[in-house]
Parts: sequence; C-alpha cells; structure tokens
Amino acid sequence: MTLDGKIATAGGESKWITGDVARAYAMKLRQGADAILVGVNTILADDPSLTLRARNPDRGTRNDGKPLRRIVLDAMARTPLIAKIVNDEHAALATIVVGKVAPKKRVAALGRRVKVITAPTIKSKIENRESKIDLRWLLKKLGSENVTSLLVEGGGEVNASFLLGGFAQRVTLFFAPKILGGRDARKAVAGDGVKRLDEIIQLREVEWRRLGPDLLLTARLE
Ligand SMILES: NC(=O)c1ccc[n+]([C@@H]2O[C@H](COP(=O)([O-])OP(=O)(O)OC[C@H]3O[C@@H](n4cnc5c(N)ncnc54)[C@H](OP(=O)(O)O)[C@@H]3O)[C@@H](O)[C@H]2O)c1
Repeated sequence: MTLDGKIATAGGESKWITGDVARAYAMKLRQGADAILVGVNTILADDPSLTLRARNPDRGTRNDGKPLRRIVLDAMARTPLIAKIVNDEHAALATIVVGKVAPKKRVAALGRRVKVITAPTIKSKIENRESKIDLRWLLKKLGSENVTSLLVEGGGEVNASFLLGGFAQRVTLFFAPKILGGRDARKAVAGDGVKRLDEIIQLREVEWRRLGPDLLLTARLE
C-alpha cells in the first residue's frame, strides 16, 4: 500500500505500488501458505494469476511439492469465465466460493472449470442483501480440507471482513514511500471500520524491516 493506506486508484489500478524486493517477499509468503484468498472485485480489477512466480518452474506448486490453492469470495458468481484463475493450467486447483443466491447458470459454467463451493451468506449492512460469504463457515470447511494456513491478499473489503471479524491471526503489510490521496482511492482496509476508538484493532509483536525502498510490517493480532 501507499503510505496513506491506499491499494489502488479510484479506477482500480494497482500495479505496482511496491518494488521488486517487496513483491519477491510476497511470493515467499505464498510459498508458506496452503491457500491464497481474494475477493471477486480484485479478480475483476486485476485479473491476477495468484501463482508462485519467481523462478518456480511449476507455478502452481510450492517448493515442498504441495499445490497452492487459490480461493475467490464471489457470492454472486461474478468471476468472468475468461479470468486467468479459471483458465490457466492450475484452474482445477482454484475454488470459487459462491452464495446460494448466485445465478445457477453462472455457477454451472464456472463449475465446469474450477471447484465451486456454495456457502452460507450473511447480510451486508450497506447493500442490505445477503452478499457476504460467511467466513466462520468457510474457514471451518477449508480446515476440514487441510487448509490450515490461509493467506488473504485483499482487496480492502475482504481485508476488512477478516480483520474486523476477528478471523486474522497475523498481518503482513508492505508500505511504499508514495502517496496516492483521493477520497475514492481504494483503501487497504475498507468495510464499515470500527465505530469507537476502544474497538480499534491493536497489533502486537510488531516488527519492521526494510525491503529495498519499501517497509514491511509483520505483527500478531489480539
Ligand atoms: N495493492 C494491493 O496489494 C492490492 C491487493 C488486492 C487488491 N487490490 C485492489 O483492490 C481493489 C478491489 O478491492 P475491493 O475492496 O473493491 O474488493 P475485494 O475485497 O477484492 O472484493 C470484495 C467483494 O468480494 C465479495 N465478498 C464475498 N464475501 C465477502 C466477505 N465475507 N467479505 C468481503 N467481501 C466479500 C463481495 O462481492 P459479492 O457480493 O459480489 O460477492 C465484495 O464486494 C482492486 O482495485 C484491486 O486492484 C490491491
């Protein structure tokens, strides 16, 4: 993110904010996870590969030979059929998590290429419709499938759901010495935010490191 906490412009442009060293470190984090998770807006904005790039001959497999699972929170099954995650050589390892309200035809079309999980949803306060995948349910389900380490990579709405919902155990934040500004630029943590200062998310065991021109923060959550 930029120093002012932005992860993309208002138009959704995010490549690249941090430098090469920080991005290589992020790849190492993927190596240590059983799965990576993003929200559907990130797929729509960036069409990311979410693979293990950087000198890895088999981009879908971790150094220990285990496959890396890619997971998308997508209550309405909006992931485009042309998205990389649905079409590349590791598509069979991708999982789209949809809600019961997702259009059946879209779910079926996605299901021909990737794994689709239908999850319970909870009401979004802003949209006033059942639109958020129930993370408690999903984490239990993933745990039963031996996903014990999940790397959540954004965007801001998904980050907020994990952080404000109390589902995150550690955070890793990369800060570039840049300022984006703009009230509509995308925030690293969006959602509803905390209502009162005594509900603030407190980080513990904070460590800072320099990664080229950028800063890396790692910490535990209470
Ligand atoms: N700089 C970076 O490192 C970085 C990393 C990632 C993303 N980004 C940027 O972030 C932007 C997208 O972020 P965003 O905040 O708009 O969207 P997002 O977090 O990528 O996706 C949010 C969407 O996911 C779905 N969703 C389903 N269950 C959810 C749950 N429990 N909690 C939260 N969302 C849930 C919802 O759509 P449905 O209701 O349709 O399911 C929701 O609108 C893009 O511009 C991208 O470029 C930047």
